[in-house]
Amino acid sequence: MSAEPFLPAPTPAPRFGVWLIGARGSVATTAIAGCAAVAAGLHPPTGMVTETADFTSCGLPSLSSLVFGGHDTLDCPLPKRAEHLADSGVLPHGLPSAVHAELVAADREIRPGGPPPGDTGRTQEQWIEVFAADIRDFVHRQGLAGAVVINVASTEPAPTDDALPPSSLYAAAALHAGCPYVNFTPSTGLHHPALAPLADSSGLPYAGRDGKTGQTLLRSVLGPMFVQRALAVRAWSGTNLLGGGDGAALADPAAAAAKNAGKERVLADTLGAAPEGEVHIDDVPALGDWKTAWDHIAFDGFLGARMVLQTTWQGCDSALAAPLVLDLARLTARARQQGLTGPLSGLGFYFKDPVGDGPSSLAEQYTELRRFAGRLRDGADDRGTHR
Ligand SMILES: NC(=O)c1ccc[n+]([C@@H]2O[C@H](COP(=O)([O-])OP(=O)(O)OC[C@H]3O[C@@H](n4cnc5c(N)ncnc54)[C@H](O)[C@@H]3O)[C@@H](O)[C@H]2O)c1
Repeated sequence: MSAEPFLPAPTPAPRFGVWLIGARGSVATTAIAGCAAVAAGLHPPTGMVTETADFTSCGLPSLSSLVFGGHDTLDCPLPKRAEHLADSGVLPHGLPSAVHAELVAADREIRPGGPPPGDTGRTQEQWIEVFAADIRDFVHRQGLAGAVVINVASTEPAPTDDALPPSSLYAAAALHAGCPYVNFTPSTGLHHPALAPLADSSGLPYAGRDGKTGQTLLRSVLGPMFVQRALAVRAWSGTNLLGGGDGAALADPAAAAAKNAGKERVLADTLGAAPEGEVHIDDVPALGDWKTAWDHIAFDGFLGARMVLQTTWQGCDSALAAPLVLDLARLTARARQQGLTGPLSGLGFYFKDPVGDGPSSLAEQYTELRRFAGRLRDGADDRGTHR
């Protein structure tokens, strides 16, 4: 009888953690459920730029290799959050039960967020250490090749004193735990002056702020059009109606002001100066996750002819945001693997208020993103230069 030939056990493919701050929110729940659905072939990856041809050979982690966890101050279990989203039509009917096991697995990895309002029980340093310990524990227990931390928690008002806001405590914790950090919200995060030395010395890549999914996406296309056609924009005004948790958070004028600062930056950058006009955000709870955004653009043509362009954007906010969160998780995990450090300006395509000195028009940002994909593929040549 001949002995079976010895075959070495196959090396398991590396798995990567995605640690979401605000892990039980609409965007996070849609990203977790959507990742499982696309990985299982239940839905096509519509809206995921990293699934298009330019990104196939960049060495990005596969969707099935992503493991989710995170922090949240809510304790509603993820499968229940997903059911609520399906009831309101954000997730397809039947999806929460099809990906129930993945939702339960991610829910087990969600740890209590903080700090509670008015907390005096822990110092800032203690909160940072608690959060960092949760992230390290996740990486070690799950045997992950690494993790990226992505902030998708409720928008905070801009800080008014020196104390670090919660988003900055989490950002510091991410870097302390050795993880790249992505801020998908307009909250301060790593943008706090007190964190600049840590960001510089950490040797980790980071990106943000505030995902560009609707009105600002359109502005980053239309702004350059007016400039290229030598048309004079006189005023650009916008109104948004939305509900859901984001609508409720943005009903606070200070949180809305933080959001609007990013929306206005794209006009100042693409037109050369901020035109007259404001952006308003109204909370309409009945609309849930469906946002309507109107823009009214007054402009002058040849011989001062006065004209107006109006646009109406009607989008499902979480369905627009979730594929971008998955893209950013994969791109940032790969950037870390390839040794890229500091602000990832090549990811400006995804943000309203991007880090670094990249272009502001969507077309140029897309060119930069493709160049960035080349760096992820070729690696070493561009290490350390991506600042
Ligand atoms: N198209 C989009 O949906 C879009 C685009 C750009 C940015 N964003 C931003 O993404 C964020 C999430 O949006 P959403 O619709 O999922 O909101 P949501 O209200 O559904 O979810 C936010 C989650 O953050 C949690 N949270 C609040 N404070 C926390 C803390 N200190 N620690 C941990 N968790 C905390 C909440 O409990 C909640 O579960 C918002 O800041 C929003 O502005 C969304």
